[in-house]
Amino acid sequence: MADRPTVGVVEAVATKALEELDAVGDAEALERWRVSYLGRRGELTAILRGIGTLPPEARRQVGAAANAAKARVDEAMAARKREFSREVTPALLAEDSIDVTLPGRPVPTGRLHPTTQTVREICRIFASMGFDAVEGPEVEWDRYNFEMLNIPKHHPARDMFNTFWVDYPDRNGEQSVLLRTHTSPMQARIMEDTRPPVRVVVPGKCYRYEATDATHEWQLTQVEGLAVDDGITFADLKGTLYEFARQIFGEERRVRFRCDYFPFVEPGVDVAIDCFSCGGAGCRTCGRTGWIEIMGAGMVHPNVLKGVGYDPAVYTGFAFGMGVERIAMLKHGIEDIRHFYANDLRFLKQF
Ligand code: PHE
Repeated sequence: MADRPTVGVVEAVATKALEELDAVGDAEALERWRVSYLGRRGELTAILRGIGTLPPEARRQVGAAANAAKARVDEAMAARKREFSREVTPALLAEDSIDVTLPGRPVPTGRLHPTTQTVREICRIFASMGFDAVEGPEVEWDRYNFEMLNIPKHHPARDMFNTFWVDYPDRNGEQSVLLRTHTSPMQARIMEDTRPPVRVVVPGKCYRYEATDATHEWQLTQVEGLAVDDGITFADLKGTLYEFARQIFGEERRVRFRCDYFPFVEPGVDVAIDCFSCGGAGCRTCGRTGWIEIMGAGMVHPNVLKGVGYDPAVYTGFAFGMGVERIAMLKHGIEDIRHFYANDLRFLKQF
């Protein structure tokens, strides 16, 4: 706009704009109208911009008129806009309707691995009896995995654990680092770091160098348990594990303790429950014996206590260790341990 704006020009443009606005017939025409008056190069925009170039007295007058005109035009435009959006709504609704009676689309959710679920259930049961849960390293020193558990170098009991050694020889060139073969090394680590009373469970992965079949995997999950204090007896071990068996396998379970050998406990036992499948008569699940072994256990060996600086004349304790996959297999009737690591969704989705 070449001319300097005056109050008259402002009024004239505003009047023209409002007249044209009245004639606008739809939302698209409204947008064209908006651009021609209020857009970057619009007539009203040009006037408002021109005000800055006026001498002060005129600037005040014309400025006031222009602002008032702009307000009127804005308001009228907003009103027309509302009109059009009201008109569009019924058409849009008819064409673009949402059927609220359709069933919702399911949101795919993940789930916990059966091993994780079983670890959590086991830990929850022991938590109810006052056991903390702690974890430890999977790459371990020979010292914790064997020596502090009363299994010195060249002890035949090392044959119980087919070991994955890590290629990391010590100063004497001897193998001293391994993948832990059980969670028992945490017994030594925990006692080394704390004073009695100790009451912990240790869930975690373990590794054994062995051929895989329906009941053996080279990676497995265990939960270790350890309770040490003055005056802990074998009766405490029996009561605790009996309560555990009842909670995880059912109220009516019976529990059997039989002598077994582990170098880090004395006496050592294997713990079995009466077969829930046949009720003790003998079937495939229990190998016709009526009993199912679920873990190893025993009273912590005095040599282990001495090794961590506990006085075996004052302190006694019990320890146990169970295979988590085995517990899950028994609970759910899973016939092959290899399912746990196959990542087959058809298997995993059942839990
Ligand atoms: N660590 C033993 C194993 O893996 C189980 C065990 C733990 C036995 C604690 C006795 C006491 O075979």
